[in-house]
Amino acid sequence: MILPANPAANYVAHRDEIDQAVRRALDSGMYILGQEVAKFEEEFAHYLGAQHAIGVGSGTDALHIALRACGVGPGDTVLTVSHTAVATVATVELAGAQAVLTDIEPATATIDTNRLEDVIKAQPTRRIKAIIPVHLYGHPADMPAIMSIAEQYGLTVIEDCAQSHGAVLDDRKTGIWGHVAAFSFYPTKNLGALGDGGAVVTSDRKLADRIRGLREYGWRERYVSDFPGMNTRLDELQAAILRVKLKYLDKENARRRELARLYDAALTGTPVMIPSSRTGASHAYHQYVVRSDRRDDLRSFLKANGVGTLIHYPVPVHLQPAYQGRVLPDGAGLPETETICRRILSLPMHPQLTDAEVKEVGNLIARWSGQLADRR
Ligand SMILES: Cc1ncc(COP(=O)(O)O)c(C=O)c1O
Repeated sequence: MILPANPAANYVAHRDEIDQAVRRALDSGMYILGQEVAKFEEEFAHYLGAQHAIGVGSGTDALHIALRACGVGPGDTVLTVSHTAVATVATVELAGAQAVLTDIEPATATIDTNRLEDVIKAQPTRRIKAIIPVHLYGHPADMPAIMSIAEQYGLTVIEDCAQSHGAVLDDRKTGIWGHVAAFSFYPTKNLGALGDGGAVVTSDRKLADRIRGLREYGWRERYVSDFPGMNTRLDELQAAILRVKLKYLDKENARRRELARLYDAALTGTPVMIPSSRTGASHAYHQYVVRSDRRDDLRSFLKANGVGTLIHYPVPVHLQPAYQGRVLPDGAGLPETETICRRILSLPMHPQLTDAEVKEVGNLIARWSGQLADRR
């Protein structure tokens, strides 16, 4: 079986170093906010070119804390996309604010910046506070356009980098374009822990201090809370593991790009649409997502032939029972979002995937296309 992602294979690839790092963390006797977290925070901030990285319990907590640190709360509105992991939208509501979901540009499946300005203008009575662009699948959203709109309307930008570790746009990594960014270290991510983990990244010192307080009861010093906070800390074991994996992130992203080129070559000439990138972007290929009008048929065919695939995501957030109706009642709807979710398919993609496996998937898709033509 060719798996869609394989965090176990990634562990095996770095097993000796990871085992040593885990032992070091265990032997230290410091299990919460010790040296491993402090060093990882420093190394990750340096990797991105940011001033501060603050380790937290998950990507969801990173988004939640980022929103609260930016002062987003009851009475505020936050704009984001519906074509994303539900966590992006859930955290807006966890912070007590209202989410308004907008459409994506079809080519890259990231927020449509042309539509964004219309959405902002359409609701002058709402207190719009922030925008959350999502660098979905590892492809950077149009950050220059987003930052210029945010500046014009005085909005805070919180990048959702859960899928974009190491992705670059115009020579700047995702995570340092906005005012603050949230990362997830869920095991299948490009930088994945062996459990849950996340980080908030910013170059604003005041914001960083507030984020550090929010992750631990709002403590100014131990047992003295300046403001109400949470308990969401990256733990020492995960930080030790992430320090090993961070060293290989660029190499593994380069391998993902190599695999994507192999897929591109194998699929050109089939009726399946391959992913595209905007000019100046270096895609991190967290996912390699193709599109087809016969997606479900293709998925079943691949499954029957030993290839596992996923759909990111089958139901847009605004159509899920818990989050229905978080769109503007202007009649425009989210046509691109509702179209794409019926067509997308995430093919196997991870740095330990072999060239032969990609070729096998490519050959299977070519065979499926041939059968499709015969059936017509
Ligand atoms: C786009 C996006 N945002 C947020 C999250 C939430 O991260 P976590 O699972 O670490 O809470 C994820 C992870 O699934 C994600 O893909």
